[in-house]
Amino acid sequence: MKNLSSSLSPFLVLIIAVYFIKIASATCHVDDEAGLLGFKSGITQDPSGMLSTWKPGTDCCSWAGINCLFEDRVTTISLFGQLDESNSFLSGTISPSLSKLQDLNGIYFQNLRNISGPFPDILFGLPKLTYVYIENNKLSGQIPVSIGRLTQLEALSLAENRFTGPIPSSISKLNRLTQLNLGKNLLTGKFPEGIKQLRNLTYLNLEQNKLSGTIPDIFKSFPDLRILSLTRNAFSGKIPESVSSLAPRLMYLELGHNALSGQIPSFLGNFRALDTLDISWNSFTGVVPKTFANLTKIFNLDLSHNSLNDPFPQMNVKGIESLDLSYNNFHLKQIPKWVTSSPIIYSLKLAKCGITMKLDNWKPAETYFYDFIDLSENEISGSPVALLNRTDFLVEFKAAGNKLKFDLGKLRIVETLKELDISRNLVYGKVPTAVIELKRLNVSYNHLCGQLPKTQFPVSSVVGNDCLCGSPLPPCKL
Ligand SMILES: *[C@@H]1O[C@H](CO)[C@@H](O)[C@H](O)[C@H]1NC(C)=O
Ligand SMILES: *[C@@H]1O[C@H](CO)[C@@H](O)[C@H](O)[C@H]1NC(C)=O
Ligand SMILES: *[C@@H]1O[C@H](CO)[C@@H](O)[C@H](O)[C@H]1NC(C)=O
Ligand SMILES: *[C@@H]1O[C@H](CO)[C@@H](O)[C@H](O)[C@H]1NC(C)=O
Ligand SMILES: *[C@@H]1O[C@H](CO)[C@@H](O)[C@H](O)[C@H]1NC(C)=O
Repeated sequence: MKNLSSSLSPFLVLIIAVYFIKIASATCHVDDEAGLLGFKSGITQDPSGMLSTWKPGTDCCSWAGINCLFEDRVTTISLFGQLDESNSFLSGTISPSLSKLQDLNGIYFQNLRNISGPFPDILFGLPKLTYVYIENNKLSGQIPVSIGRLTQLEALSLAENRFTGPIPSSISKLNRLTQLNLGKNLLTGKFPEGIKQLRNLTYLNLEQNKLSGTIPDIFKSFPDLRILSLTRNAFSGKIPESVSSLAPRLMYLELGHNALSGQIPSFLGNFRALDTLDISWNSFTGVVPKTFANLTKIFNLDLSHNSLNDPFPQMNVKGIESLDLSYNNFHLKQIPKWVTSSPIIYSLKLAKCGITMKLDNWKPAETYFYDFIDLSENEISGSPVALLNRTDFLVEFKAAGNKLKFDLGKLRIVETLKELDISRNLVYGKVPTAVIELKRLNVSYNHLCGQLPKTQFPVSSVVGNDCLCGSPLPPCKL
């Protein structure tokens, strides 16, 4: 028999070899291509063309959102919707054919907004799957009891879907997890105590669900936890003692909008790394511990809507970014010095804080970043004219229910301003035309006079003045 290769010139062999290498690298594994095309056929709407490069016969490793690490096998699928573009979404369901992608390591389906269906069972058939982020979609039904089988997972986020029912206790088996985010669903029942088995967690987020009962005393189990968010649930009882063991590392502690009660534990003052503390909209009582003086790195502090009492401790923070102490039982008298001196503050909310100062005397060190100011329901006198002359990018100014006395015509209304509420003060003069650019206005119950500019604001925005006229009030007398 004639030797075939010996009859070919070495040059031709080289050409053929190069050709085959090229074909091999230009074609992803047939299973992966079939699996991805199956996924694509489960998508009923793709108005922004997210999957437009997914075409049969082309290298699936080069398709948008696809990564192949080991030669021809797909290792990650990353599809991200753009929130600021209304047509950047996918409708449909997650096809079972994705289970053909046997080397898949990560699934990132984020902000696709309209993917529906139940919890995707394909996750159970992907042995190398480690990172799952299926966020801001419309998955629904219960999280399966068998979720504990996904023991290889290091990150699991099902945030912003429509999952209902309890968090299965088998979640305790996912002990390689460093991140667990089940926030923004419709989950009910208790905080599963078994979560204490997840000792490697750095991030735990259960916010915006319907979870209830007490927060279990399990926080000694998380030496690396940096972020804990349980906001907007129905948790009751006290902040558990073991939270104190998170002190060296915890950066975000968010417990707002629950039904928690008792005193603010003084151990929170030991949280030297704390960036954000939100315990707003609960039923905390007593005083804010003196130890808060040691929270020198805190940037965001929200204690609003509780029943906290004086005295408020002197803080040693260098630059607070946002502060909300509104609607407690504080009598601060002045805007605190550590607020006035902050070079980076953008949001200051001190409604009903017993402030009695004259606003003209408040000289914040830096006003460049101010977006939100709420000083409603105090006894503040004087004028905000100089302040608003310095806040070039202000979005909201609220100072209802004070004793402000100034000519509204002199108030600078910057282009960024969306909301102005100075109702129930002693404001006089005319309503300037610039208010037509606002989203919300309330100048009711002052001493304003003259013709209103043409706006769509309701009558309750303008009632109770001395002699304002024109729509929505009765016409001006000529
Ligand atoms: C979202 O998906 C559903 C069901 O697949 C579909 O009926 C609906 O039209 C989609 N919504 C949008 C905004 O496309
Ligand atoms: C937790 O993290 C440590 C250090 O990174 C690692 O050695 C250990 O295997 C992890 N535990 C689990 C159950 O994965
Ligand atoms: C702040 O921390 C130091 C060192 O731990 C401590 O001695 C001091 O008492 C603390 N200050 C307050 C007000 O708790
Ligand atoms: C507003 O600011 C300008 C320049 O920044 C200044 O000239 C003017 O006097 C200020 N007006 C008030 C009322 O402070
Ligand atoms: C304006 O303020 C008054 C009194 O503060 C309040 O009763 C009214 O509902 C407010 N109207 C609007 C539109 O905000």
